[in-house]
Amino acid sequence: MTDPFGRKINYLRLSVTDRCNLRCKYCMPATGVPKLTHQDILSYEELYQVAGTAVALGVEKIRITGGEPLIRKGLIQFLSQLSGLPGLKELTLTTNGVLLLELAEELKEAGVKRLNISIDSLIADKFSAITRGGKLKDALRGIAAAERVGFAIKLNMVVMRGINDDEIIDLANLTMEKNYTVRFIEYMPSTEQSENSSLAISGKEIIDIVANRHRLIPMTRSALSGPAQNFKIAGAVGSLGIITPMSNHFCADCNRIRVTSTGMLRGCLFAKQEIDLKPALHTGNRCELERAFYQCVNLKNEKHQMTWHEKPQELFRMSRIGG
Ligand code: GTP
Ligand code: 5AD
Ligand code: SF4
Repeated sequence: MTDPFGRKINYLRLSVTDRCNLRCKYCMPATGVPKLTHQDILSYEELYQVAGTAVALGVEKIRITGGEPLIRKGLIQFLSQLSGLPGLKELTLTTNGVLLLELAEELKEAGVKRLNISIDSLIADKFSAITRGGKLKDALRGIAAAERVGFAIKLNMVVMRGINDDEIIDLANLTMEKNYTVRFIEYMPSTEQSENSSLAISGKEIIDIVANRHRLIPMTRSALSGPAQNFKIAGAVGSLGIITPMSNHFCADCNRIRVTSTGMLRGCLFAKQEIDLKPALHTGNRCELERAFYQCVNLKNEKHQMTWHEKPQELFRMSRIGG
């Protein structure tokens, strides 16, 4: 699949649930999200059809997202099935880490190649405030378990001014002795927090904070580096990444599409239009499903228009899209 701007689309982000065992302030309202029924959410059979069609059309990498994907029952079996899809080169997953202590080994056995784990603070009280009740020790145990079973560790920190920007150096320092990749992500205003543009802090400012303390060595981009610009602190074992969806977007290299857990296909994280895959899934007509994918790719915009000051539109809720 190639879009009207010549970009090859080979990466699908597939959300398996919009529910979560945490309530991060930048992602969900305090009250959680409206409860969806089993009928609203795609079954594993349907998700498999969606994934199979995408792979047949050229998708090589699938990232499983949520909400928190690990809370959905039966996920491991689904992942084992998915990792066997001929043509799929990489199955990856983004998680808050809380359930990794029990699931890391099974994820490895199911064929998941890489994990991205969110961690926005290393201070227990602050972690709990940002996640509205999460326990830092659960996330840290999860990270340790993932490391033990042999996953490369990639950590995501959403940086928010006045909330956790004082911990940028502490997170960066994790890479001094551990072979972790720590990525700092610019806060994106989500539906519930549109008034919070004051939380925004640019990737440039984040890098400057680290560069004031350490010598930074830029790393070359690889085909798999995704949206991050990568750096290494001189002498560090691991590396750092900066993800700047707002200040310096990476749309020119965009290779991805997304499917929400309710089967809505989106050409962009900030897309204003979605294509409902359910009718095609219900007819069981593979050609219709393929047509929906082509339609979505054809609708892709050249770049997104979101700014920190714009009110995000209703469909833009991180927990339903999966980032
Ligand atoms: P890898 O590069 O494969 O490690 O994954 P990733 O960085 O694409 O995935 P992850 O789920 O860890 O997302 C990290 C951050 O990047 C999240 O805040 C996502 O919302 C953001 N992100 C990922 N893809 C896009 C994109 O296409 N556009 C924008 N604006 N943000 C994205
Ligand atoms: N801004 C930036 N990143 C976000 N994520 C979730 N919501 C936001 C937001 N509003 C990140 C999570 C996770 C990834 C999937 O998206 O921290 O690491
Ligand atoms: Fe849950 Fe992840 Fe959203 Fe936080 S960012 S509420 S951990 S889905």
